[in-house]
Amino acid sequence: MRKSVILITGANGEIGHGLISSLQERYQQNIVALDLKVIDPEIRPHVKESIAGNILDKALLDQINAEYQISEIYHLAALLSTRAEFSPVAAHDVNVGGTLNLLELAVQQARSHGQPVKFFFPSSIAVYGIPSLKIKQKITKIHEDEYCFPETMYGCNKLYCESLGAYYSKHYQRLSDNSLPGLVDFRGMRFPGLISAVTVPSGGTSDFAPEMIHAAIQHHPYDCFVRPDTTIPFMTMPDAIRSILELMSAPKSNLTRQVYNITGWSASADKFRDKMQSVYSDANITFTVNEKRQSIVDSWPADVDDSAAQKDWGWQPEHHFQNAFDDYLLPGIKAHYGK
Ligand code: SER
Repeated sequence: MRKSVILITGANGEIGHGLISSLQERYQQNIVALDLKVIDPEIRPHVKESIAGNILDKALLDQINAEYQISEIYHLAALLSTRAEFSPVAAHDVNVGGTLNLLELAVQQARSHGQPVKFFFPSSIAVYGIPSLKIKQKITKIHEDEYCFPETMYGCNKLYCESLGAYYSKHYQRLSDNSLPGLVDFRGMRFPGLISAVTVPSGGTSDFAPEMIHAAIQHHPYDCFVRPDTTIPFMTMPDAIRSILELMSAPKSNLTRQVYNITGWSASADKFRDKMQSVYSDANITFTVNEKRQSIVDSWPADVDDSAAQKDWGWQPEHHFQNAFDDYLLPGIKAHYGK
C-alpha cells in the first residue's frame, strides 16, 4: 500500500520552515518536503522524506505520485515579486507552470484514492494593482474583489493561479455531472508582507521591513529601498502559519470564498524605523528609493479587509504592531543572533 503523506513544495522557504514544524507537532503526519535545493538540515528531522527537485520536472512528480498517497498539498514554491521582475518568463514558468503541475498531481491523487486533495495556495497582496497613490490613500481596507489589476509578473501569476485553483475545485472535467464533489479542495490566502524572527526573505518587495528589523538588531546599518511613508499590511510568521492551519482545518461548508484576505497590522516604513530607533538609539536606518520597487509597493494596498476570514473561519491575528515587536520579533531575533 502507498504511504499517506502531506506534500510541501518550496519547503526551504520562509513559510515552509514554520509550517513544517507546526504541522509535525499538530498532526504527527508524514510530510514529504520538496525544494529546488537540498532540504535544510533544521527541517529534515521533521519530515518523512526530503526531495531536492524541480516542480517543473514531470518525471519527478510522476515518481512522487506513484510512491505516495497524498491527502494535502501545501504549494509554497514561487519566485517572489522583485525577483520575478528580473526574470518574468522564468517566474511565469515556475509560478504558473509549477502550480498547474501540482494541481494535476492533486487530481491524479484524488482519482486514485477517492478523496478530494486539500490544496493550500499562498497568494498575496501583489494581486492588487492600485493605479495611483491618491487612490491608495482613499481606500481604507481593500476587499478581495476590488482592484485586482496586478502590476507585477508575480501578482499576475498569483491572481491567475487563484482562478486556476477555483477552476480545479469547481469545474474541472465536470461536463457531465456538476453534482460530483470536486477532486481538489483549493484554499488560498492573500498574505501581506510576512515577518519572521528566524528567517529573512529574499526577492520580495515587502522585504524592507524584515530586512530593517534584522539589520538593526545586529547593529548593521540599513538603507531602506522605499520612501518613509510607504504603507502596506504585515503579519508575523507565527500568525501566518496559524492562519494556514486554521483555514485548512475549517469545514468546507463554512467557506464562502476560494481565497481570503488576511492581515495583522498596517504600518509605514518610518514607523518601523522609529520603533527600531526607540529600542536601539544607534540604529542607522536611511532611505534611498529604488523607483521600480517603490512603484510595486505603491500599487499594493495600505490595508486589507479580512472580514470574510474572520466570519468564515474565525480569523484573528494574535500580533499587532506593538506586541509583534515586544512578544515575538525583538526577543525572537535577539535569541536567533545570540544578542
Ligand atoms: N512578500 C511578497 C513579496 O514581496 C508578496 O507576497 O514579493
